[in-house]
Amino acid sequence: MIYRFPDGFMWGASTSAFQVEGGYNEGGRGLATTDVQKVPEGTADTKIAADHYHHWREDVNLMAELGLKTYRMSFSWSRIMPDETLVPNKEGLAFYDQLIDALLENHIEPFVTLYHFECPQALVDAFGGWKSRKMADAYAAYAEVCFRHFKGRIRKWVTVNEQLIATAAGNLTGNYEKDPVKNLKNIWQMSYHVSLAEHRAFALLREIDPEALIGPVCAIQVVYPHSSRPEDVAAAWQAEEMMEFYMLDMSVRGAYSPFVTSYLKTHDLYPETDPADEAVLKGSSPDFIGVNYYFSVCAKKKEGPVNYNQPPFWVSDLYDICENPYLKKTEWMNMGIDPEGLRTGMEKIYQRYQLPMIITENGMAVSEAPDENGEIVDTYRIEYIHAHLKQVQIMLEEGIDIMGYCPWSFVDVVSSHQGFAKRYGLIYIDRTETDPKDCARIRKKSFFWYQNVIRQNGIE
Ligand code: BG6
Repeated sequence: MIYRFPDGFMWGASTSAFQVEGGYNEGGRGLATTDVQKVPEGTADTKIAADHYHHWREDVNLMAELGLKTYRMSFSWSRIMPDETLVPNKEGLAFYDQLIDALLENHIEPFVTLYHFECPQALVDAFGGWKSRKMADAYAAYAEVCFRHFKGRIRKWVTVNEQLIATAAGNLTGNYEKDPVKNLKNIWQMSYHVSLAEHRAFALLREIDPEALIGPVCAIQVVYPHSSRPEDVAAAWQAEEMMEFYMLDMSVRGAYSPFVTSYLKTHDLYPETDPADEAVLKGSSPDFIGVNYYFSVCAKKKEGPVNYNQPPFWVSDLYDICENPYLKKTEWMNMGIDPEGLRTGMEKIYQRYQLPMIITENGMAVSEAPDENGEIVDTYRIEYIHAHLKQVQIMLEEGIDIMGYCPWSFVDVVSSHQGFAKRYGLIYIDRTETDPKDCARIRKKSFFWYQNVIRQNGIE
């Protein structure tokens, strides 16, 4: 039996500019933070990536063949506004003009993220990037250029992809503070500036193109208690507050929760604010929430000294993040595969905010190569996506407002920090870590399976 999704469900697929485009020094583009980051020897960088900059027309044709209703992509800020003069780069806008127009000609709705992990390195050099309030001004200037230029053509915007990661990863922000405590303080300050910037974008879009929709994308954190010990149960909800709801509360309500406020104040992490900020933060709100989901984690009460030797967003004196022994793990999905977690996380978000949601990323990474017939038979990816779509089905049947589903990723892209061997795409890119070859596109088995899902607007 086929379960049919609602009419108009946005079947999409995702990429981001620095991971797919390449052409890093072409068309007047400035350097981005992601271009200057040091990647380990023998690992692909962003210079060529999947070479979408030169293959965009072929890629749009493949999207049309796949039947995509929407393409979730990002603009490279440094292609549109390369440096601190904030002067728009005509060639950069022209690149996106041709891409957006080709999508529209093919009835594929462009769904564009303004900020997906990278920013012009020039802004980091000029004033420290997100550590400075000036970054919110620069972002607002960039957003305004995009909203005016693409008015009427781009009807759905994302402000920021995964604020949690976008602010915590020094290679993305240019914050290379070595002292872990100062680093945490920087991160909360940067995150606050991102929230200010985001609200300025909400307000600008309302003014420039009131018909268009806008929202944040959150890396949802589904945290289970490691045991039923009350302290572990508390650790799990506290971890979700500190790693997810801090950001969504700022996006939707323009304020931190009492729990987060108190934690930041007692730990000397509360950001510097300005009395005028409250009006900005409370003066606007998003239309929807984008959800990125790959895996869940467990938490237990923190015991012993704080461990700074882990991603900064896991550093806490309240909880320790740990693995879930009940989940199947693979080489790249080493926290485990957990389709139910998607529902658990999205239900909580819906109950808290009652806003429409769209799954902006969800996918399975595998190191792949064509078999002896030149095919990539990625049955595991089909199973992964199908299992997650089943959870979407349950939520839709319950009446939760889910606008669409965009697997990560449309084509194989360079990973955010682990090179090109970590592949998520529906389409294989023929390149190695160090040899870009011709970046030929090869449809995987999941491409044809997803094409059928879209065609029948539903899953078995
Ligand atoms: C999300 C990001 O965090 O996860 C993507 O929005 C990223 O940019 C994706 O590529 C998968 O993560 P990774 O590290 O495997 O590339």
